[in-house]
Amino acid sequence: MEIVNRLITSTLPNYFASLPIPKSVFGFIQLSGGDWIALIPFVGTVSLIAYVTVKAFQPKPPVAKKPICNLKIQKEVQKVVNIVDIEEIGEKVSYCRCWRSKRFPLCDGSHTKHNEETGDNVGPLVLKRKSN
Ligand code: FES
Repeated sequence: MEIVNRLITSTLPNYFASLPIPKSVFGFIQLSGGDWIALIPFVGTVSLIAYVTVKAFQPKPPVAKKPICNLKIQKEVQKVVNIVDIEEIGEKVSYCRCWRSKRFPLCDGSHTKHNEETGDNVGPLVLKRKSN
C-alpha cells in the first residue's frame, strides 16, 4: 500500500509537474523536439484511457436478423402448417416453396417474378402420381 501511496502523493504529481505543457495553445508551437518526446508517454496514456473509456460506453451495433421468407401468409398464426389428404391430390399438384403465392400452399407461378427480382432460384414442390 505504501507503493500506491507514494505513486499517488509523490511520483505522479512530480511527473505531471515535469511535463512540458505550455500555458496556452500557441505554446505548443514553441516546444522543442525533446519536449515533444517527453510528452509522448503522457499523450499515449491519456489517448489509451480515452479510447478504452469511449469503447466501453459505445453502444453495440444491432445484430442483424436473418431475413424471413414468409412476408404475408397467415402472419397471425405462430406457425403456418398445411395438411393435405394424399387421396385428394389427384394426378399432379404443385406446392409453393417461395412463400409468394396468392393461392398458398399451392404454387401460382409467383416464384418466377420473385426469382427475377431477387436472383433467387426457388420453385415449387411438384407431387405427381406414378403413371402405370
Ligand atoms: Fe411459390 Fe411457385 S409460387 S413456388
